[in-house]
Amino acid sequence: MSQRCLNFLVIWIMACFFLLGSVTAADETRQVRLMPWPASVNVSSAAPLVIHTSFSVAVQGNDPHLHKAAEIFLKDLRRHTGSLPLDFSIAGNADQAQLAIDVDHPSEEVQKLGEDEAYTLKVDSARAELHARTTLGAMRGLQTILQLVEITPQGFAIPALTIEDKPRFAWRGLMIDSGRHFMPLDVIKRNLDAMAAVKLNVFHWHLSENQGFRVESKKFPKLQQLGSDGLYYTQAEIRDVIAYARDRGIRVVPEFDMPGHSTAWFVGYPELASGPGPYSIERKWGVFDPAMDPTKDSTYKFLDTFIGEMAALFPDQFFHIGGDEVNGKQWDANPKIQDFMRAHGLKSNPDLQGYFVERVQKIVAKHGKTMEGWDEILRPNMPSSIVIQSWRGQKSLADAAKQGYRGLLSSGYYLDLNYPTASHYVVDPMSGDAASLSDAEKEKILGGEACMWAEYVSPENIDSRIWPRMAPIAERLWSPQNMTDLHSMYDRMAHVSDWLNAYGLNHNTEYAPMLQRMAGTDDVSALQVLVDVVEPVKAYAREGLATSEATSLTPLNRVIDAARPESETAREFSEMVDAFVSGAIKPGMEAQMRQRLMLWRDNDEPFQTIAKRSSIVQEVAPVSQNLATVAATGLRALDYLDRGEKAPQDWKTQQLALMQQAFQPKAQVVLMIVPAVQKLVQASAGETPTVLALPKNATD
Ligand code: ACM
Repeated sequence: MSQRCLNFLVIWIMACFFLLGSVTAADETRQVRLMPWPASVNVSSAAPLVIHTSFSVAVQGNDPHLHKAAEIFLKDLRRHTGSLPLDFSIAGNADQAQLAIDVDHPSEEVQKLGEDEAYTLKVDSARAELHARTTLGAMRGLQTILQLVEITPQGFAIPALTIEDKPRFAWRGLMIDSGRHFMPLDVIKRNLDAMAAVKLNVFHWHLSENQGFRVESKKFPKLQQLGSDGLYYTQAEIRDVIAYARDRGIRVVPEFDMPGHSTAWFVGYPELASGPGPYSIERKWGVFDPAMDPTKDSTYKFLDTFIGEMAALFPDQFFHIGGDEVNGKQWDANPKIQDFMRAHGLKSNPDLQGYFVERVQKIVAKHGKTMEGWDEILRPNMPSSIVIQSWRGQKSLADAAKQGYRGLLSSGYYLDLNYPTASHYVVDPMSGDAASLSDAEKEKILGGEACMWAEYVSPENIDSRIWPRMAPIAERLWSPQNMTDLHSMYDRMAHVSDWLNAYGLNHNTEYAPMLQRMAGTDDVSALQVLVDVVEPVKAYAREGLATSEATSLTPLNRVIDAARPESETAREFSEMVDAFVSGAIKPGMEAQMRQRLMLWRDNDEPFQTIAKRSSIVQEVAPVSQNLATVAATGLRALDYLDRGEKAPQDWKTQQLALMQQAFQPKAQVVLMIVPAVQKLVQASAGETPTVLALPKNATD
């Protein structure tokens, strides 16, 4: 795991240097703030198309999926304009409609990988025309129209423009882990809305884990009865989600993780396991010993029935069997398994796992599906149809492609690690080891998937981990590869983030209630000033810094759970400081910096009043004190700079030591303004500012 973080950090640091001189689409983005950015946009100076309450859409042809898409579009248009249920309609006649949708073909009944998603959109002041070869392309175009809607002096309107658009990758996914913490249907549905809004097309649903088996099985009911704490999806609910996703052009790929990550299966069916049991639902986090017994025919008989049942429930072509992180301890401890390995010439646990995966692949294929799994399933003798999801680094994706296997990239897109958006945005499925592949090998790379592992998310804060950072990843997978300008990305992401509020996503709206709850008051301004500039520690550092071991029963109600993965306030402040120390300062910038620093310097007193009342707030009291001290240092540095007086060496040395200390994680959060203030201190002493890296214990 730490190797994974290290690779990721190296890529991130290299990419930051690379991006400093990159191309920009900023001129156009100032006029329209789309994300993902289309393949081609021509914004016209003509008057926009104003959306009156009589706005109507005409749909050509009788594809029910297209009609449904038009209805969903109108519903969403009402949400984005605050309109009434009877505003806007489907027109009978294309000539009377303000939006005419015209598609050449319906899309496939069961959505397929690689279906055409291209569309063309033309808007003038009288009407909009959307053309696509398939209904799926029209769905993507409808999302573009929604994103274009803006308030103008004439009312809500769509700017006059022409767009030609198509995706770069056919597989653009988000994985949500409902195993570790159960995510109710409303969480899933609002995230599907947001996925559709940024043109993602695969919802990978991680449905079984050590901590929970989340689907109703009619063949093996003890799976959910004993393995889920009553928190599972019925088959009717699963069908409902699949239909909801299909209506939005999203495939649903189920994952049932095996042979490891499977303790919850064994609570009801201990005979599947390689150790004697009994088993109970796992409450802790990590990689555990229980694993299926790959040596018994009865295991495969069970899986044949189970996979058959699930293959009928989930219509998608792909069936994910997990296959990751088996520690092999139960296999080592079981003499029958050791005998089996000797008898079959299986020399190692990976060989035994390969044997298991080969047999499971045949079962999956027998039920008409294509097997997908994490890196570990790639073993010699696997049929070339399988799909590898690369989580351990870009090399494994490139290696799989070289051997003729299709794959998708997830390494670099782990949202649970709480890295800044830019660090995900710079990761490209075709970069790194993939860059040197032949064209034929590159064709094997289908795209990518972000992963939302759920150790530290609840229905309350999961949206804030996925959004808005997911939107730039969606852009990476949809838009031209040369979309690399970070300023444009952050600007458009902020816009999309607010715009997603209309779908009931709570990444913005839950913040204040979480702070109010932990403060026990609705006057949380001093708490918010602090939490606005802290971030959760990165990667797996939360575990290393925990004072007691977290479990699935631990409340997720602390500052670390409310704090944003990336502090916008700290990022903006740091941009101002960079401009200031490099001499590129804009009018009013110093006044703004001073204003912020004074707010932070003076925040500790009102903060402590809140902290006295709350054990939860109390734990970040030292961070609040650091904020005050660091801000005072920043103001002093600005004073030196303003007076043209060089800061004394001993003051500088003392302050740099203080910055190191203030950047140490406390209560598992990090104060993110420290590096910028360090730069001010260095500049005030006549030194070239350097970048203060996060302490190792904040990223391990
Ligand atoms: C994984 O992160 N174990 C796929």
